[in-house]
Order: sequence, then C-alpha cells, then structure tokens
Amino acid sequence: MLSEVVKQCKPLPPNSKLIVLGGGFSGQHVAALAKALGSNALCSRRSINSFGADFAFDSATKQLPPSQVIGDATHLLSCIPPSDNGEDPVLTSLKDQLKEMPLEWVGYLSTTGVYGDCKGKWVKEDDPVKPKQARSKRRLACEQAWQASGLPVQILRLPGIYGPGRSALQSIKKNSSKMISKPGQVFSRIHIDDIAGATFHLIELARNGLKPPIINVADDMPTTNVEVLTYAASLLGNSLPPIESFEIASRKMSPMALSFWKENRRVSNQMLCKELGYSLIHPNYQSGLEDCLKYCN
Ligand SMILES: NC(=O)c1ccc[n+]([C@@H]2O[C@H](COP(=O)([O-])OP(=O)(O)OC[C@H]3O[C@@H](n4cnc5c(N)ncnc54)[C@H](OP(=O)(O)O)[C@@H]3O)[C@@H](O)[C@H]2O)c1
Repeated sequence: MLSEVVKQCKPLPPNSKLIVLGGGFSGQHVAALAKALGSNALCSRRSINSFGADFAFDSATKQLPPSQVIGDATHLLSCIPPSDNGEDPVLTSLKDQLKEMPLEWVGYLSTTGVYGDCKGKWVKEDDPVKPKQARSKRRLACEQAWQASGLPVQILRLPGIYGPGRSALQSIKKNSSKMISKPGQVFSRIHIDDIAGATFHLIELARNGLKPPIINVADDMPTTNVEVLTYAASLLGNSLPPIESFEIASRKMSPMALSFWKENRRVSNQMLCKELGYSLIHPNYQSGLEDCLKYCN
C-alpha cells in the first residue's frame, strides 16, 4: 500500500522534478509515490488519452516530449522495454536532449533475465550475465547503451512484477491459472510498492554519494508458482485446478511462457537490503498478495 511506502521514503530535494518515461504498471506507481511525497513528477504514455499520461512519448511514431515539459528534469526513470531491434527507445529518441538536461539521477528498469539460467542458484549483481533468450540479449544491449551514455545512470534489475490488479489473484479469479509442478523450479518476484520504495531509497543514497551501478530489486522469497497460486486461492476462498506436471503442461505452452520455465534463478537482494539498507514493504508473496487483496473486487 502506497501509504506504507510514503512512511519510509524522503521526497526529492526541493526544486527537483522527476520524469517517468513509460508510465505503465510500475511507472505510474513510482510517479504516484513521488506525488504522495509532495515531489514534482510527470509521466509519459504513448497516448495522451491513457490513464495517468501527463505528456505523450512514443519512439515508434516519433512523438517526442516537448522540451518545456522535460527539459528542466533533475531525475528521470525509464520503464520502457527495448525495441524489437534491440535499441533502447529512450536513448534512440532523446539521448542528445537528455544530455543537455540538469539530470542528477537516472534510473533504468531492467530485468533479471540478463542473468540467464542459473540452475536455481542465488544470483547477485556481480555474477556474470549470460542471457539466453533473445529478449534478454536485447535487454542487456539496452543496459550497456545506458551505461555508455554518459548519463548518471543506475540500473534496477527486476524479476516478475506484481501488484494490485496484476497478481495471482487475477489469474485465480479468471480461472486462467495453471498449477504446474516442475521440481526445483522457482521464480523471484517484486511488488510495485517495493519498486517505488527502492527507487526513492536509491535516489536518496545517490544524493549522498552512494550509487552502485546495478541493483537487484527482488523480495526475500523466490518460490514456486504452485505455492503462490495456492495462497492466492486461499485468500479468495476459491478452489484450485489439479496440479499438472511440467512435462505435460509444456506441450501446450506458448513459446514465451515456455521460455520463462527454461530459466531458474533465485535473485539475491542482499545488496539492496543489507548493504544499502532498504527495508522491503513486502518481503514475500504472502504479504504482497494480502496487499493486492485489499484492491480486489
Ligand atoms: N512485467 C514484468 O514482470 C517485468 C519483469 C521485469 C522487468 N520488466 C520491465 O520493467 C519495465 C517496467 O515494467 P512494467 O510491467 O511496469 O511495464 P509496462 O506496464 O508494460 O509499461 C511499459 C511502459 O513503456 C511504454 N512504452 C512501450 N514502448 C514504448 C515506446 N516505443 N515509446 C514510448 N513508450 C513506450 C508503455 O506505454 P503505454 O503506457 O502507452 O503502454 C508503458 O507506459 C519494463 O521495461 C519491463 O519490460 C517487467
């Protein structure tokens, strides 16, 4: 719940302005936190008519943000995924403009897919990246482009994102959940409250000179999908479909779904939570789903 995040975050310094490029699920929440803290924040969406759009930005149609809207930003967060050709939509369209701006901090939301398959082991920021999926290779190329941009960038690597309106509760309610058993297979996840909270925590640390280039933002408890769905169903009082083996379920899976099941890793948050002192609002899926339930009709 945003009010919990507000309690543990500091606003941006006076006269700061945060621009969120890509105000989708995570971006909207980060902007909402900024506003709840009394900070100045504006969000882009591809259509100005979309919910929460303060201005339009679409790299594909070359709809660029007006410089009078973004030109004086001190903080910027990009939540926009790579283009199909592997280029970063923000850098391709706006790099020169960003370099003219008084930016003190730039965040890039990336994915833990860049680590590739880790055979269920814990993975930390200094472990080698070995992306196998094409989309993860594109993501790594974007991370590298941001790092080479000369901008004051910090990369936040995220596992599966969930929160109110996008969680296992919805799949249970829509009856779209599959209880798939694959021994040893876990997934890491992060609630949007903690994406927003970690973003502001990192901004504050960077202001005080502490700014590691890459940070995993994940909860404490990588776990199986069966456990998460079982808990979601118990919160809703719904029944669950029978458990299917991965061997059988995989025959009907889309290539995209299958690609997620091909990789197994436990994303370590030790740097964020131990070394950098961030306190998770939702350290596990139970806490996160209980929060999501409050917004579930
Ligand atoms: N979903 C996950 O589980 C997950 C896990 C790890 C990392 N990530 C990554 O983390 C980031 C945030 O995730 P999310 O789930 O919050 O994303 P999301 O809801 O899909 O939002 C993505 C945003 O990017 C905008 N966008 C897409 N293509 C664009 C383009 N060519 N030009 C300008 N804007 C564009 C979208 O515009 P509209 O608002 O107009 O649609 C949207 O605002 C993304 O990069 C995502 O790939 C996601």
